[in-house]
Amino acid sequence: MSVAEIFETMAYGPAPESSSEAGRWLDAHRPALGHFIDNRPAPPREGEYIESVNPADGKKLIDVAQGGAADVDMAVAAARDAFESWSRAPGHVRARHLYALARAVQRHARLLAVLETLDNGKPIRESRDIDIPLVARHFYYHAGWAQLLVNEFPGHAPVGVVGAIIPWNFPLLMLAWKVAPALATGNTVVLKPAEYTSLTALLFAELAREAGLPPGVLNVVTGDGRTGELLVAHPGVDKIAFTGSTEVGRAIRQSTAGTGKRLSLELGGKSPFVVCEDADLDSVVEGVVDAIWFNQGQVCCAGSRLLVQEGVEASLLAKLRARMERLRVGDPLDKAIDIGAIVAPVQLQRIRDLVAQGEREGATIWQPSWACPTEGLFYPPTLVTDVAPASTLAQVEVFGPVLAAMTFRTKSEAVALANNTPYGLAASVWSENINTALDIARDIKAGTVWINCSNLFDAASGFGGYRESGFGREGGKEGLNEYLRPAWEVVPHPPTPSPTVRERPAPTSAEPGDQAERSAGAGGEGWPYPPIDRTPKLYVGGKQARPDSGYSRPVLAPDGRAVGEAGEGNRKDIRNAVEAARGATAWAAGTAHARAQVIYYIAENLAARADELAGRLSSMTGAHPEEGRGEVEASIERLFTYAAWADKYDGLVHATPLRGVTLAVNEPIGVMGIACDDRYPLLGLVALVAPAIAMGNTVVVVPSERYPLAATDLYQVLDTSDAPAGVVNIVTGPRDALARVLAEHDDVDAIWYAGSREGARAVEQASAGNLKRVWIVDRPPRDLMDPHQGQGQEFLREATQVKNMWVPSGD
Ligand code: NAI
Repeated sequence: MSVAEIFETMAYGPAPESSSEAGRWLDAHRPALGHFIDNRPAPPREGEYIESVNPADGKKLIDVAQGGAADVDMAVAAARDAFESWSRAPGHVRARHLYALARAVQRHARLLAVLETLDNGKPIRESRDIDIPLVARHFYYHAGWAQLLVNEFPGHAPVGVVGAIIPWNFPLLMLAWKVAPALATGNTVVLKPAEYTSLTALLFAELAREAGLPPGVLNVVTGDGRTGELLVAHPGVDKIAFTGSTEVGRAIRQSTAGTGKRLSLELGGKSPFVVCEDADLDSVVEGVVDAIWFNQGQVCCAGSRLLVQEGVEASLLAKLRARMERLRVGDPLDKAIDIGAIVAPVQLQRIRDLVAQGEREGATIWQPSWACPTEGLFYPPTLVTDVAPASTLAQVEVFGPVLAAMTFRTKSEAVALANNTPYGLAASVWSENINTALDIARDIKAGTVWINCSNLFDAASGFGGYRESGFGREGGKEGLNEYLRPAWEVVPHPPTPSPTVRERPAPTSAEPGDQAERSAGAGGEGWPYPPIDRTPKLYVGGKQARPDSGYSRPVLAPDGRAVGEAGEGNRKDIRNAVEAARGATAWAAGTAHARAQVIYYIAENLAARADELAGRLSSMTGAHPEEGRGEVEASIERLFTYAAWADKYDGLVHATPLRGVTLAVNEPIGVMGIACDDRYPLLGLVALVAPAIAMGNTVVVVPSERYPLAATDLYQVLDTSDAPAGVVNIVTGPRDALARVLAEHDDVDAIWYAGSREGARAVEQASAGNLKRVWIVDRPPRDLMDPHQGQGQEFLREATQVKNMWVPSGD
């Protein structure tokens, strides 16, 4: 074909990238690749291997090791040994290493890109121009954090040995997302790549050794889910950082429950792509191409639900179909290919099954007129219409090049549809009106919202989910917190003497349900009037409510004397309280200033009753009145602290390469369940509730089980403090049973638990249902009276989630 003819037809000729260098690398390692532990290749102890196959032609590339228990042991031991010196190395030393890793990635960019494409099937255009440059960027960016850490995160220490488990859709990029921040903050890593795509991780480990990374700092153990399970269960691992399917994330949550391991989960999504009728439709079409056909749609944040305003549906879909006709599917090593191969036969089958299921449910499937290559694992770009919001293709993550289109009429309908899945990873909003776009972005529950753009990533911006898309952030300043902990946890802080909790003698008489003291205003012997009956109540929806059970339990002083009664809350009461908390939406929507005012007012009213509360504390616990007074004063101060923070816990503007701004906004998590221990009956509640509500959450709190009366005294304080109904709900009763109900409740978004080890484990396990965030407040034991341990930004971080909004500027 002549140049003139090519110009005429604009047909593409083949433009293959050479695979010879990658071939040589594979040849040098044949017949099989081992693990990479302590800077050395390590054959699997049990001698088991799995095949790594090129999905574009079905040919075997090489065998990789299937990691067993002995391999994982060896890798964790190497990481543990290396931790001592790596964590103590000055930030500048670690910065130099990370910088060297970034340089190594750039020097070997072509080899890495080709190997990635051979192993995964993604177009070379994407591995070469997106994945590998971003990998280098992550190491550069985090080299910077290693340098700045000591000044920017004073009082923090690394977590320890990190077990990183990553998926196959962005093999090297996911490695970088986890390894770069982990190493920058002084942790060491055992990485398990996905079984389909281990090659670039092993090459990277070799390059890291060449670049001078000390032995044991980064170890790679390959294998399938069984190897992942071994890593998760290993007692020598301090944190698991996982990216993958929601089901496996849930299983990991369950198996790490009660172990004290830190956990971050980046899971699936069904991200909405919202197009308003004033959007620039030609730009929208290109946005959709990036959103759902990037990496064959095998992207956790793929914009797989197109929500388009009714008036422009027909014209947008017509433009989209025309564009789809011109997409090219085929050999991923061809530089002019848009869509490559699906990673594995099982994934291709999953896509086919889900689309067939959608068709059975009444959806209309549209695919371009051309056919995909028949050799290799290919699936055409697919547009699905007539999709009901509750149907399979609108709800289930397909993880393939399949776009489900639906319409909306109004802005609020768009938000309702966008939020109508259990996920909350990302969203894309298109409107030429910035007010409309930002308004919708604010209301969508997602960790990242792109405005008039999609699938933009950068090391400087955090990435992670809301709801069942997981918790924790990767990238940005916020991502570093996943790999750091307060230094006092490492160096034991001298405990503040606080003998508030006395040993409780065995109850002498009253049993739960007995009305040991039903009196208010009883005047003692000789008083002429009978006492006024006072039923112990709960505090739900701004009102005192009788417990559903009708029962109460006596509260006994250390000498066995009954000092009062508290309602025996149950599952039903928790449900009512959660409903009230869910209904108090105005709290988050209001201003931070208004929240601060309410919290100051609570402090003021608490101060007005300080003597009474101090007396209550000492009569319940047997503490010296001065100690009771001290606890009340500390509670008042804590309220002041969080009233102060309410309008000062600012977000960030990240310096991503976007022309415009990337806004990292701290948002409340939603409804929080809080369970308190007995150590400080009043402060134990205030120290947890105040930061939660200061950040705009609403709470259901289970106060000290043994000494609940300080909490019930708060009802009137709350009544008189302008706290809107439903913001703080108090359910007294058996702490662990009630905490478990909260943890199981799908409408509770996060749990803070202070109590027993068994209680903590039960809560973590039960939380796997909707993958809510759990913070075990006293792991390790923490003294809430101590200002270092008992307050501060750690609490605010646990009470918020970061939404990153990408807002471009210019035409
Ligand atoms: P997966 O969740 O099974 O695999 C992700 C990683 O976890 C791999 O390294 C795997 O070996 C490991 N793993 C599997 N079982 C494990 C266990 N019990 N304990 C510890 N580690 C374990 O994902 P899979 O099966 O490859 O893909 C299935 C579906 O998951 C996809 O169709 C897609 O919907 C979703 N997915 C989502 C990803 C995301 O980025 N959010 C990435 C990969 C898959």
